[in-house]
Amino acid sequence: MFSNLALLAVSTTIGAALGETILGVTVFTRHGDRTSKHFPGYSLTSLGAQQNFQVGQDYRGIYLDSDSPKRILGVSEDKYVSSQVYASAPDQKILLDTTTAFLQGLYPPLEEVTRLTLANGSAYTNPLNGYQYVHIRSEPSTSPNSIWLKGDDSCPAYTRASSSFKASPEFQQRTEATAPFYARFWDALRNVHDYNPANLTYANAYDIYDLLNTASIQNASSAPANHAISHDISAPDLARLRTLADSAEFAANYGRDEPMRAIGGATLAGAVLARLNETVVTHGRRKFSLLAGSYDTFLSFFGLAELTAASTDFYGLPAYASTMAFEIFTENNVTVFPALEDVSVRFLFRNGSDVEELRAFPLFGRSETALPWSEFVAEMGKRAVTSVKEWCEACESTEGFCMVYSVPTTKWNPAAYAVSGVISGIVVGTAVVLFILAYRKLAERARARKARRARQDDVHRAEMGMPDKGAVSERTDSVGSESV
Ligand SMILES: *[C@@H]1O[C@H](CO)[C@@H](O)[C@H](O)[C@H]1NC(C)=O
Ligand SMILES: *[C@@H]1O[C@H](CO)[C@@H](O)[C@H](O)[C@H]1NC(C)=O
Ligand SMILES: *[C@@H]1O[C@H](CO)[C@@H](O)[C@H](O)[C@H]1NC(C)=O
Ligand SMILES: *[C@@H]1O[C@H](CO)[C@@H](O)[C@H](O)[C@H]1NC(C)=O
Ligand SMILES: *[C@@H]1O[C@H](CO)[C@@H](O)[C@H](O)[C@H]1NC(C)=O
Ligand SMILES: *[C@@H]1O[C@H](CO)[C@@H](O)[C@H](O)[C@H]1NC(C)=O
Repeated sequence: MFSNLALLAVSTTIGAALGETILGVTVFTRHGDRTSKHFPGYSLTSLGAQQNFQVGQDYRGIYLDSDSPKRILGVSEDKYVSSQVYASAPDQKILLDTTTAFLQGLYPPLEEVTRLTLANGSAYTNPLNGYQYVHIRSEPSTSPNSIWLKGDDSCPAYTRASSSFKASPEFQQRTEATAPFYARFWDALRNVHDYNPANLTYANAYDIYDLLNTASIQNASSAPANHAISHDISAPDLARLRTLADSAEFAANYGRDEPMRAIGGATLAGAVLARLNETVVTHGRRKFSLLAGSYDTFLSFFGLAELTAASTDFYGLPAYASTMAFEIFTENNVTVFPALEDVSVRFLFRNGSDVEELRAFPLFGRSETALPWSEFVAEMGKRAVTSVKEWCEACESTEGFCMVYSVPTTKWNPAAYAVSGVISGIVVGTAVVLFILAYRKLAERARARKARRARQDDVHRAEMGMPDKGAVSERTDSVGSESV
């Protein structure tokens, strides 16, 4: 399946080149096996938890194990050290569970590292054989930091750009050509309460694939009656449903002439830059970052980073528990963090939990799999969204946290909305509230700036290039902060 180019790349970069030192890694992961997204309350299955756990364990083997040639410089092998590890997920059960399972594999329970002896001589370990509680930053959709993980959510300009695909001749043609194929699945899907035969078209390519794929994996008789879907589907049919879903979802999340379709990939690029940069500015103090998100963000990034030029496989949906990793490394065998000129970045992808190894692929349509830090920053920078302000403006978002960027007198124009007395009353009321919120935010930022000035003699932090932790409200608009 892999193109010759990719094969060549893989054979030359699999495993660390002799003498090379890994300085840090940023990983973006998809959830493992889950119940169908079609039904509310969908969640990771036990199989899915095992998959994410397995992947976390494998990352442990590559980047933490003291015998691994790819061990991260100075990383704590067994004991979780909070300053070394950063983990963040959207505030959604399935992605928080995914992150937890991965981290359970990365830093498994160990009684000796959690053992505590009290003054009276009694010894304790954490429950569950020394379980290690890794801190996960959970980002609700109301937080500006949610955009780094799910930049396509609550983004009207994305929704517009994405659904414009449905008006394309390509879409019409595929819808017509596949109508008889989709119609064949009515028997299998007739129990889905909100489906009728007219719903069986290419317009629902992902939903139909997801319903039938989950049904083919899970035990139909354990599902409620209105969820019961026949799992009697042939492998070629399922493969065709997947390929059709691949094409629909790739087009919805990346388009050369529709840059807003790739907003999710652009914010992820910003997040990856910020995470790797944190390793750089702290001279390797932060070593491992884990972010969790969805398949659409993967596809969006694949398009944006021109991975499809390295292998056409990147047009396809990533398998459950897929991960992409960005290694920051130096070509020499070092014991201290090297000069910036000697730092490079490499992209790797693992398609799921069992079938494949983590493989290196060239980014940006190039042939080399490693780029010097400065070139990587420049290439990612061209594609990335790196501030909340940029996202709010590009998305034309009405999220609360965006209001601070649209001062009432300029962008927000209540007169334009005053179609009736009642509505204008609501609008003016809302405008007043928003104005107060924006004013508070500005006052907060002014306070933060003042506090920051007061701390400017903090030589150590400046030396480390660390973000101003105190100036939280000022920094939430920057992915350079710790709160990506
Ligand atoms: C790197 O250097 C250390 C000593 O500083 C040595 O023990 C190790 O074998 C070297 N590794 C490689 C791959 O050369
Ligand atoms: C030691 O102190 C802890 C906490 O106060 C207590 O639960 C435990 O029973 C004590 N052990 C002994 C041997 O007294
Ligand atoms: C199915 O089609 C009906 C209209 O015919 C629509 O109201 C409904 O939302 C569709 N259901 C799904 C799951 O797309
Ligand atoms: C499927 O689930 C039902 C109900 O939980 C159980 O009785 C049955 O044995 C399961 N089937 C298989 C093949 O495991
Ligand atoms: C990952 O696997 C899926 C099949 O599960 C395939 O369609 C897709 O092309 C693969 N992606 C890559 C990059 O290998
Ligand atoms: C890295 O962080 C430093 C300090 O916050 C900042 O000055 C610099 O612009 C950042 N670089 C990138 C590529 O984000």
